Amino acid sequence: MHSTKTKQKAQPTIFVIFGGTGDLNSRKLAPAIYNLFLEKSLPADFAVIGTGRTKLSDEEFRKSLYEGINEFSRRGKTDKKDWEQFCGHIHYQIADLLKESSYAELKKNIEQLQAEWAQEAQVIYYLAVAPNFFPVIARNIAQHQLAENSDNSRIVIEKPFGHDLESARELNALLGELFEEKQIYRIDHYLGKETVQNIMAFRFANSMFEPLWNRNYIEHVQISVTERLGVGDRGGYYEGSGALRDMVQNHLLQLLCLVAMETPTNFGAEEIRNRKVDVLHAMRRFSAEEVRMNTVRGQYGQGWIEGKEVPGYRDETGVDPESNTETFAAVKFFIDNWRWQGIPFYVRTGKRLHQTASTITIQFKDVPHFIFPPETTETWQQNRLIISIQPEMSIRMQLQAKRPGLEMVLNTVDMVFDYKGTYTVEAPEAYETLLLDTMDGDQTLFMRADQVEAAWDLLMPILHAWESKRSLSFPNYSADSWGPEVAEALIARDGFHWFTLPVNNKK
Ligand code: BG6
Repeated sequence: MHSTKTKQKAQPTIFVIFGGTGDLNSRKLAPAIYNLFLEKSLPADFAVIGTGRTKLSDEEFRKSLYEGINEFSRRGKTDKKDWEQFCGHIHYQIADLLKESSYAELKKNIEQLQAEWAQEAQVIYYLAVAPNFFPVIARNIAQHQLAENSDNSRIVIEKPFGHDLESARELNALLGELFEEKQIYRIDHYLGKETVQNIMAFRFANSMFEPLWNRNYIEHVQISVTERLGVGDRGGYYEGSGALRDMVQNHLLQLLCLVAMETPTNFGAEEIRNRKVDVLHAMRRFSAEEVRMNTVRGQYGQGWIEGKEVPGYRDETGVDPESNTETFAAVKFFIDNWRWQGIPFYVRTGKRLHQTASTITIQFKDVPHFIFPPETTETWQQNRLIISIQPEMSIRMQLQAKRPGLEMVLNTVDMVFDYKGTYTVEAPEAYETLLLDTMDGDQTLFMRADQVEAAWDLLMPILHAWESKRSLSFPNYSADSWGPEVAEALIARDGFHWFTLPVNNKK
């Protein structure tokens, strides 16, 4: 997917960021664009037009981004000279996104930049706004002929893409009427993470895994994305979402698809996305009884983290004191195809848990016959492949080996590939990769309409069941725990337990 990337882009580019004064821009987008600038991955002629309702001058807007970059960029504080060169490319437009005049003005601003450059620019419209604005912005972009040239204009849609299957279908239908699919970039920032991209390299650039990568050798798979933070100031959004919509529908299912997909025949965006959507189609849709058997929901209560008292979810700002929204979800999924029949894929995610860590664990089946006497194998453990996505970035293979000594005693050893020890270059942030791919017109790491819909379709029975029946046990886990006890039971019933790597929480 990245083989075609060129360093210095020739074509002038304009990023229009709707929601320019928002959190996403200052934490993620502006630092990513700035880092692309430092990497010399942007063309000489580029501009960022941020829009917002607040009255700001260009200078004031630049200052707010400067602060965001200094605080959130992986490179730390900006260098004065670099910043001075960069900030002249940033512009601000005060805009009411419900008013047509805002788009007419935007058009003028884009035309003016193109006139200065004496060239047509490619324009990337980034919708970093609440989802209820997606339709009105999309319609106005089309009505004002801001994306007429389908080779030169793209529209990036942040998550959440829809609230359920029906709303996702409606949004897809609307976008499909207004734009060509090749212009639509549905973002899932997990796909831009370096370690996530490496799953495909690992699986398909090495011949040793494929023969083992199936129900004959793998016993079960775990995908765990746990977070230490609570909902913070996003309570209003999160109340209408919950862990299943916020994390499972997109990030966790995308990880699952990368682990479970068939081998693509080439590295093209369509081929890869076809193989991923095949997985979603093959996943078992649950009956009401299966939802009861295979899913667990949780909500955090009040607790202590690092000696500080933290509020329970129901006491967070913007949250209903009797909320039924889940902040933890665990599901045992099945993929009904030849490769994976009968192999459980356990996924879990939650907020205010003991550790911030995203890990995929592939546990292999045990040896068919033990030749070692029991006293040599006290710490016996089946082989595991552990892909640690963050904060540790590593892949480790857990094997049995003889402990040095006069006696035959076996213990578990790790063969580790870790990024820190192997590479000196720092991995780019997901948004850097994804913005560059958008400029390059590479949709591999973005979700296609049918993928988003298949993911919603899979989750609808769970969403229905959870919404139609209030949880009587909420809140059912405390901050700094591993979630509700029933989540342990979900996996323990099958004789397994959730795997965790020791991770330093204060990274
Ligand atoms: C976002 C969710 O998509 O992903 C957040 O809305 C979550 O609730 C975040 O915290 C996690 O992303 P990351 O990159 O920090 O793992």
